[in-house]
Amino acid sequence: MGLRSIIRRAIARKKYPIETYVPAKLQMPENILEVSSSWKGLEQVIEDILDRFEIGRESCIEFGTEYGYSSVVFSNYFKHVKGIDLFTGDKHSRLKTDHFAEAKKSVAQYKNIELIKSDYRDYIKQDNQQYDFAHVDIVHDYKETYECGLWAVKHSKCCIFHDTESFPAVRRAVIDLAKDTGKQVYNYPYHYGLGIIV
Ligand SMILES: C[S@@+](CC[C@H](N)C(=O)[O-])C[C@H]1O[C@@H](n2cnc3c(N)ncnc32)[C@H](O)[C@@H]1O
Repeated sequence: MGLRSIIRRAIARKKYPIETYVPAKLQMPENILEVSSSWKGLEQVIEDILDRFEIGRESCIEFGTEYGYSSVVFSNYFKHVKGIDLFTGDKHSRLKTDHFAEAKKSVAQYKNIELIKSDYRDYIKQDNQQYDFAHVDIVHDYKETYECGLWAVKHSKCCIFHDTESFPAVRRAVIDLAKDTGKQVYNYPYHYGLGIIV
């Protein structure tokens, strides 16, 4: 990481403070996918978040699935997990080619995961269901994180956002979303940062 990037992130942390989430326990889930993912490490804090905020264990929706690392983490805790993704990558992701078939193969043994190849913009127009839990980890720009996040926050009891430490735009979107929806916001500052709106 370049010096410019380190300074930009430090300024964002100071300028946009969020109450730190301190877990009571870190717990490794039973099922984990052996694929590369910048989400690694966060799997240990999910159960703590679900317990702390008394989140139901029926349904979870995520936007930004890639190969399914985070989806498989959620599949340990929820009866049904939906993963919405273009499966073509974006300007911030390492992967830029169509990986839908590979993603489907990598999560195939977890029967409670449903992968849907769609832009979040199209998906949110036709789903009005309420979910226990939501996760947003798409392209890390303000506009997209806010737009997708607003739907996810309104359609779930608790919504988490990856990359609040590594992308100041995500951090700002999370703060604004909590303010605009009148919800509480926390930040777990490890593994690139996890914003929690509840
Ligand atoms: C950082 S990756 C997700 C990583 C994943 N959560 C994990 O556990 O490894 C971001 C994903 O968001 C997807 N994405 C970007 N823009 C999107 C959009 N407008 N709608 C749906 N998915 C999008 C990309 O295709 C990419 O696979």
